[in-house]
Amino acid sequence: MMESVGILGGTGPAGRGVAIRLASCGYEVVLGSRDAVRASGVADAMSVRGEGTVRGDTNEVAADCDLVVVATPWDSAVATVSALRDRLAGKVVISMVNALAREAREMVPLYPARGSMAAQIAHALPDSVIVGAFHHLPASLMEDLDSGLDADVVIFSDDPDARSKVNEIVDSMAGLRGVIAGSMSLASPIEAFTAVCISVNIRHKAHSYVTLAGLQH
Ligand SMILES: NC(=O)c1ccc[n+]([C@@H]2O[C@H](COP(=O)([O-])OP(=O)(O)OC[C@H]3O[C@@H](n4cnc5c(N)ncnc54)[C@H](OP(=O)(O)O)[C@@H]3O)[C@@H](O)[C@H]2O)c1
Repeated sequence: MMESVGILGGTGPAGRGVAIRLASCGYEVVLGSRDAVRASGVADAMSVRGEGTVRGDTNEVAADCDLVVVATPWDSAVATVSALRDRLAGKVVISMVNALAREAREMVPLYPARGSMAAQIAHALPDSVIVGAFHHLPASLMEDLDSGLDADVVIFSDDPDARSKVNEIVDSMAGLRGVIAGSMSLASPIEAFTAVCISVNIRHKAHSYVTLAGLQH
């Protein structure tokens, strides 16, 4: 049976983009929100294709899914997951959170106390397994299944089984290829590189994305 995936803060563009591509390959996705009614409205407005489903509910219900993605703004991620610590215990939790600030025509990386948002989340969730993924993807292209997106998703975790599992899921999503980079030590540069991606897109008025040349899989 296909797993369910809950997305905390799933009503934003980032969460919706991941949701639509997970649903298209059969997952039952719950868009989590602080407001279940708002989340239901957002889910109902999405053009979901394929065997899977997307529905909206509270972040608590999303946290009860088999696999959970954190897609809130960086400055509310720790408070959001901390409140759900017991529900998230024993689960794989994917962080796609980037700590960034806008400065004129650039995005600049911010460095949280533990070096990355994934490490902040891991500290807040000592009983969960944290995997980083989806950081560099433009949400607008993710949401549009006809966008022609053909992107690499750089994955990191200290847990080899969890990162392999997430890699498998990413590979099953249309337009994405998973690339395991390694351990949580890589979280900081991977998250910070998102500032480069967005700054390039602002400067060049584009929706570019990351692909790594020369890989043989
Ligand atoms: N946008 C992208 O292209 C992209 C790509 C890759 C990664 N990311 C990362 O993904 C995350 C989400 O990005 P986004 O652009 O979707 O962000 P967003 O639209 O600003 O926020 C996503 C959702 O988080 C919830 N939220 C907002 N403020 C909150 C608070 N104070 N406490 C709890 N929940 C709150 C909201 O849902 P409710 O009001 O329904 O609760 C909102 O719809 C960010 O960390 C970003 O760095 C974004």
